Amino acid sequence: MKKIGMFFGTETGSTRLIAKKIHKKLGDDIAAKPVNVNRITMEEMLQYDVLILGTPSYGEGAIPGLSAGCLEPNWEEFLAKSDQQPDFSGKRIAFFGLGAQERYSERFCSSLFKLYELFKGYGAEIVGSWSTEGYTFAHSAAVEDGRFVGLVIDERTQGRFTDERIDAWLAQVKPLLLEKLATPA
Ligand SMILES: Cc1cc2nc3c(=O)[nH]c(=O)nc-3n(C[C@H](O)[C@H](O)[C@H](O)COP(=O)(O)O)c2cc1C
Repeated sequence: MKKIGMFFGTETGSTRLIAKKIHKKLGDDIAAKPVNVNRITMEEMLQYDVLILGTPSYGEGAIPGLSAGCLEPNWEEFLAKSDQQPDFSGKRIAFFGLGAQERYSERFCSSLFKLYELFKGYGAEIVGSWSTEGYTFAHSAAVEDGRFVGLVIDERTQGRFTDERIDAWLAQVKPLLLEKLATPA
């Protein structure tokens, strides 16, 4: 059986940590080892029909990368490597995003929306929206129709909820990802 591809961007390692947790919960038989996007090309990502993609939030809701003040290459630099718009039609993607709701209450997890919008524009089917219940923030671009567009994790102020949030999200999203793995495009 083909696996779920798992890729993330990170500046200080938290998004890697969450990707590893998700991977561990899914198991190696189902999900490929999470890889930092700064180590791959778009062609490598396109080998997967089913993906879990993770991002922190930096800047005014920009795609994380050097322009948003990051010191490490992130999603921005990964995306800049391809000169053509990639084709994700027939692929299914679930997103997770990290942010800090107290410190960045006005733009909580906003980068997640940028990435979501981009891959939707590439033709991907996006699954895994998540309730905003239990979070406290003034504004988040990552809310669409009253729900986050992916799993939202705040390790800084709500790390105690991380495991239960991942478990509840996977309970929703795993069947959808497995269904797609079984019936690729
Ligand atoms: C300079 C800076 C800017 C940030 N901007 C935002 C933001 O706009 N929205 C948000 O929710 N979190 C923001 N954060 C919080 C990070 O997204 C959060 O700490 C995340 O867990 C970092 O993930 P990483 O360790 O994978 O880089 C910012 C953090 C820093 C240091």
